[in-house]
Amino acid sequence: MDILEIKNVTKTFHTRSFWGKSKEVHALNGITLSLAKGESLGIVGESGCGKSTLASLIIHLAEPTGGEILLYGKDISHAKEKEVKEIRKKIQIVFQDPYSSLSPRMKIGDIIMEPARVMGEFSEAHRKERAEMLLEMVGLRKNVMDRYPHEFSGGQRQRISIA
Ligand SMILES: Nc1ncnc2c1ncn2[C@@H]1O[C@H](COP(=O)(O)OP(=O)(O)O)[C@@H](O)[C@H]1O
Ligand SMILES: [Mg+2]
Repeated sequence: MDILEIKNVTKTFHTRSFWGKSKEVHALNGITLSLAKGESLGIVGESGCGKSTLASLIIHLAEPTGGEILLYGKDISHAKEKEVKEIRKKIQIVFQDPYSSLSPRMKIGDIIMEPARVMGEFSEAHRKERAEMLLEMVGLRKNVMDRYPHEFSGGQRQRISIA
């Protein structure tokens, strides 16, 4: 079964030029793709071709102008606030720039436990245990839990984001 299906998705931005003239930007025009369990998919293209726009629709930071986005068979393209919380448990983004996406004032352990805290998942002890396990899965020692992002390299921060 496909985990993710993108069907004929379009995204048009309505903007205004400096002189106030309205302008349409067709960022995505009829995108169709699917992703099955265990598959990886790379999307490649020149700057401005719509890669980030597509990613933002998939994680529901924005809604498509047309078409459907199915996550585990369910159309999420116009999900309401409550449904978005459920979507966030199933799909997440690892931002390109690990220097701006990790809060400099938060310890690594808190950064990794934050999503489960927000979702109210597990006990605090269980969350800590899971965070340590995730750190080990991405090749970091669990004793980094009490350290801060600035103590890590770009690659290590990217791993923290993945965890
Ligand atoms: N919020 C927005 N408002 C208006 N235009 C946007 C917005 N976001 C992206 N665009 C435009 O959509 C197009 C695709 O941008 P983007 O998805 O960021 O490309 P990529 O990530 O492939 O470099 C560009 O022309 C960009 O200017
Ligand atoms: Mg981009």
